[in-house]
Amino acid sequence: MSIISKDINKAITLLKANKLVAIPTETVYGLAGNIFSEDAIRAIFQTKGRPHFNPLIVHIGSTEDLEAIVSYVPEKAKRLAEAFWPGPLTLVLPKKDLIPDLITSGKSTVAVRIPNHPLTLELLNKLDFPLAAPSANPFNRISPTTAEHVEGYFKDDIELVLDGGPCKKGIESTIIGFEDDEPIIYRLGSTSIESIESVIGHIKIKNKNNELPSAPGMLDRHYAPITKTILTANIKNAIKNYSGLKIGLLVFNEYLDDDVSFKIVLSNTGNDLDEAAAKLYDALHTLDKEDLDIIIAERLPDYGIGKSINDRLERATK
Ligand code: TXA
Ligand code: MG
Repeated sequence: MSIISKDINKAITLLKANKLVAIPTETVYGLAGNIFSEDAIRAIFQTKGRPHFNPLIVHIGSTEDLEAIVSYVPEKAKRLAEAFWPGPLTLVLPKKDLIPDLITSGKSTVAVRIPNHPLTLELLNKLDFPLAAPSANPFNRISPTTAEHVEGYFKDDIELVLDGGPCKKGIESTIIGFEDDEPIIYRLGSTSIESIESVIGHIKIKNKNNELPSAPGMLDRHYAPITKTILTANIKNAIKNYSGLKIGLLVFNEYLDDDVSFKIVLSNTGNDLDEAAAKLYDALHTLDKEDLDIIIAERLPDYGIGKSINDRLERATK
């Protein structure tokens, strides 16, 4: 029997019983549990096979809930929350004592966001506790953007995937932390750098090669298909280099004279980066099931959400 359902009351019952429920958000599906239940939080790490040093994001239903979990909000964080919540932006802020160390991996900060999905907002506002929710995929695998992706991963582990349809944004939230009150991007994501800078001015990006990344989402290999995957700006050359192999192509727009086993075009209109982001993970899930020798992915234009897509493709091909 399928674990996919739109039954929000069942989700409430399970979450109140400290069970896990996969929830839809505008970015990717999350594997959610009550932040105050040690059993639920342990189950999240166990189900994902996620190392305990990698902290979770806390999801709240309204800005009023922020006060209960963080002890301090820098001025620029307030402006960002006002501009982008509900939405795909996560803020890393000093935590209050009541946030369990298990969620923050012992850090003094907690990552928090208000997701922009009607079903999950309704759920959060009907519960009297926030939800911890990492992306609903096993550690290091491709994030889920449909209820079916989650079911494929976890049908034997959880009782319910709350079905909110395909995720509209398709790439995880942008994560911003603060060092001496100055914002810094820990993870590129669905909120573009350009739109962030239009609210608070110039923002730095955390060096990806840090030995001890503040956000392990910045770890090199992540979001990866099982099939060998390469990223290139020159598709024609790559096809030539791998001729004889069973190739799957992942391209931004239509190419004419390719001779490959399987191809997915990310933007049918030719140059829509939002469309490409929304389709990216589903395309990788599909390509990974095609029994290919290699996936050749095209580097996208390096601005706006294109930068975040390229970031994910780089990690998928490490
Ligand atoms: O869009 C999203 O953010 C999705 C949806 C479900 O909300 N969630 C998501 O969660 O991508 P996850 O667990 O896959 O990635 C969360 C990232 C991790 O890289 C983690 O290291 C980082 O957030 N993080 C969490 N708490 C942190 C903290 N206190 N300081 C620095 N990084 C933190
Ligand atoms: Mg993840």
